[in-house]
Amino acid sequence: MPVSNNQQIVLASGNLGKIKEIQALLQAYAIVPQSAFKVVEPEETGTTFVENAIIKARNAAQHCQLPAIADDSGLIVDALHGAPGVISARYAGVGASDGDNVQKLLHAMQDVPEHLRTARFVCVMVYMAHADDPCPLIAQGFWEGRILNHAIGDYGFGYDPVFWLEAQHCTSAQLAPADKNALSHRGKALSVLTQQLNALHHD
Ligand code: IMP
Repeated sequence: MPVSNNQQIVLASGNLGKIKEIQALLQAYAIVPQSAFKVVEPEETGTTFVENAIIKARNAAQHCQLPAIADDSGLIVDALHGAPGVISARYAGVGASDGDNVQKLLHAMQDVPEHLRTARFVCVMVYMAHADDPCPLIAQGFWEGRILNHAIGDYGFGYDPVFWLEAQHCTSAQLAPADKNALSHRGKALSVLTQQLNALHHD
């Protein structure tokens, strides 16, 4: 279903950085954070990133009676069968700090040899025209890397200090924010979702 120009879209996130980045790419729309509507965040009960993104978008669309965009992201480590996955933010327990999560990851990976330390960040972004939308737009972005055995770098957040990028020869915590956005899973998912939304508009 096409959406009209200057249509408001609620973003199921309170992160100001994300709002700015999304607004810059979706100039035909007015992106409004869900905090402006005092939306209560839902429990993320899904076992996949897609399910959790849909739960968040549906909740925001329902509450605001507007189209909604939500994202869900995390780290997938091959040697750990996909962990920390959808629980990336709370890998070391509810309320865990980034440092706690990184320490738990380093511990879990301590005996894993170099060539098996492959991992990727994933970001799923969804757009729902309304809470009952049976066909959300779904975009996924991936960023391939390798888990180091010690932390390097001060930028970023989460697992950035242990996420080694072969091509850049540094961790994602050593990239300045603009450089990270240009390469990251989030940037890629956002650009795919933008193309899908713009195509909707022109169909
Ligand atoms: P969120 O749901 O997008 O807020 O991210 C969930 C969790 O995944 C974060 O708390 C981080 O632990 C991890 N994560 C997601 N994206 C990144 C990233 O770009 N760098 C480092 N960690 C990330």
